[in-house]
This record gives sequence, structure tokens and C-alpha cells, in this order.
Amino acid sequence: MHRTHPAHLGQPTGSAELAMLDVYMPMMKSSAIISAGRLGLFEALVDGPLTAEELAGKIASSLRGTSTLVDFLVAIGYLEKRGDAFANTASTQRWFTSAGQVDYTPGLLWTHESWSMMANLAETIRKGEPEKTLWEAMVEKPHLGPLFSSYMGAFAADLGPDLLRFVPVQPGYRRLLDLGGSHGLHSIRFCRQYPQLDALIVDMPSALTKTGPEIEKAGLSGRIALSPGTLQESDWGAPADLVFYLSVAHNHSADENRAAIRQIGESMNPGGLLVIHEYLAETSLDAMNAAFRLTLLLETGTQTHRHEDYCAWLTAAGFSAIERIDLEPREKGSLILARR
Ligand SMILES: C[S@@+](CC[C@H](N)C(=O)[O-])C[C@H]1O[C@@H](n2cnc3c(N)ncnc32)[C@H](O)[C@@H]1O
Repeated sequence: MHRTHPAHLGQPTGSAELAMLDVYMPMMKSSAIISAGRLGLFEALVDGPLTAEELAGKIASSLRGTSTLVDFLVAIGYLEKRGDAFANTASTQRWFTSAGQVDYTPGLLWTHESWSMMANLAETIRKGEPEKTLWEAMVEKPHLGPLFSSYMGAFAADLGPDLLRFVPVQPGYRRLLDLGGSHGLHSIRFCRQYPQLDALIVDMPSALTKTGPEIEKAGLSGRIALSPGTLQESDWGAPADLVFYLSVAHNHSADENRAAIRQIGESMNPGGLLVIHEYLAETSLDAMNAAFRLTLLLETGTQTHRHEDYCAWLTAAGFSAIERIDLEPREKGSLILARR
């Protein structure tokens, strides 16, 4: 993800003379950056510049291949040349290495997988829904679930400080219900910050493969439990004071969200707080939102929803004091807080 929202995002990059550049260059740029992530090239440069020979040795690749790749990465501003050596640019170091605030390398690994799924976009558009949802693909290919959860974990690491800042946890709150909680990072962060909280994470088994060990590593096994299964079928346990529905609504239809929010309302203690994180569909879609909707059509057959939709579902479920917080930068999406 980008820190800023450049005006050219999504605009044609091809020249009037050769419009095919608009197809060819994004493909090459994307596949070069993904390949660098898969080879561990950016991480190999985390401690400083290396010559092409040194770098090739470190990533166990041919000198010819490595040199061709780094030349392109220099040309597109991901690496810089320093004498005979190559170094990460500040932005690459920040976004795609362990030295950065959040390492989005899992996003590169995930995009490698999603590349082949994207090949079926035309068929999905013809049909109006995916042949197979991402969740079905995860059952068939078990390596996809943990990869997706790690990618979501990178977003969660970025979003975590905003959540702590904007979500008011009352001293009397005891029970956190993290619906679609995946990697568990949000529950871990809140349980660490608020010692009075216990949490239950509900998600599909494919999303939870690494969550137990992460909770154990955080020393929170006694306070955070897992409930594997779909939201629609699994046990949500005792009534909650704080409910997270973070980046889950875009994986559901309007009817499913209306039903889920009604069930959340019914399963909460009075005075409780529901926190929704989403990428809201605005009346005029920007390129990123429109691209995300195309991805959702292909992956899950769902879509982003409008702020008005959430307000209607929340009001019908008995929530009040609905508050919308647009995060900065805007690529981080929005929070909707509602009280029961
Ligand atoms: C985009 S990820 C967000 C993960 C996490 N809440 C976060 O904010 O980082 C959506 C999560 O919802 C889960 N999910 C989607 N549909 C679900 C369903 N019907 N039942 C349970 N979990 C579901 C997915 O497995 C995935 O972990």
C-alpha cells in the first residue's frame, strides 16, 4: 500500500504512441517486485549495499538473473545504485524489509498467488460471480490460508495504533469478541493494553492455523480463545462488551451483514461497543476502491458497502451513537463505532 494517494494512481501509464505500455509496464513492475520479495532480495540488502555478485550469492540466484532484476528495480525506484553496489531505497527499506515499521513482504507472497487467480477475471465477469471462492480455494490448497492471514497481519500491524487511539475501552469491559479475527493481532494488542479483557476469536479454520502459536508466544493463551468455523455457524460464547468486525463486511453480502450485525446486537451487553473497519464504497469510486471491488468480485463474489448501508443495518439492530472516523492516510479505510 502507498502512504500517499497520488493523483496518477490508476491512471494510464502508457504513452499515446504505445498504449500497450499501460499493460506491459505494470505487469513487469509487479512481477519484478514480487520476485524480489519471493527471493528475499530486499531483506538481503537490509543491512546495507551489496554488489550484484554478493547479492546473487545471498539470494542463491544466478548472477545474470540477479543483475537483470536489480537493473530494473533501480529503473523503477525500488533500489539505488551506489558505485558498484545496490541498496534499498528508503521506501523499500520501510515497506518491504524487517527494518521497516511494518514489513509488507507477505503481501508480495500473497500477490504471487493472486496473480494466477486474476487470470480468470474475464470468466468471473462473464458469470458475475467467482467459479470458486477464495475460501473454497483455501480448503483445496492449505498453504493459501496462512499466507493470506500473514498478509492481513501486515495490515493489522499498520492499523493497530489507530484502533488503540480511537476505540474507547471502558473499565467495565471484560469480553472482546473478534469476528473474523484471523491472525489474532488485534485481540493480542487489546488484551495487552487492557488487562481486564478476555477475547474470543471466531474465524474459519483456514485463517487460524498460526493464530494459536502467536497467542501462546504473546503469553495470552489463558485469555484469548479460538472458535473455528464460519460466523454463521460457530459459537460466539458469552455476551461481549466489545465486538470487532474488522475488514469482514466486504467479504459478505448486504443480507449477510444485516443478519450478522443483528446477531452482534443480540449477543452484546448493554453499553457495549461495536467497531467496524471497512473500505467504504463512496458514491463516486476512486481507482483503488473500484480495483478492490473487482478483486472482491473475483475472490469472494462480494463487494464494499456504503456508509448509509452500515447505518441502516446498525439502526435496525438497535445500535445508536454511530460515529464514522476516516483514517489517515485514506488508504487505511474507515472505522465505524456504534453503541448498544
Ligand atoms: C480481510 S480479512 C480481515 C482479518 C482481520 N479481521 C483484520 O482486520 O486484519 C477477513 C477475515 O474474515 C474471515 N471470514 C470471511 N468470511 C467469514 C465467515 N463467513 N465466517 C468466518 N470468518 C470469515 C476470513 O477468514 C478472514 O480471516
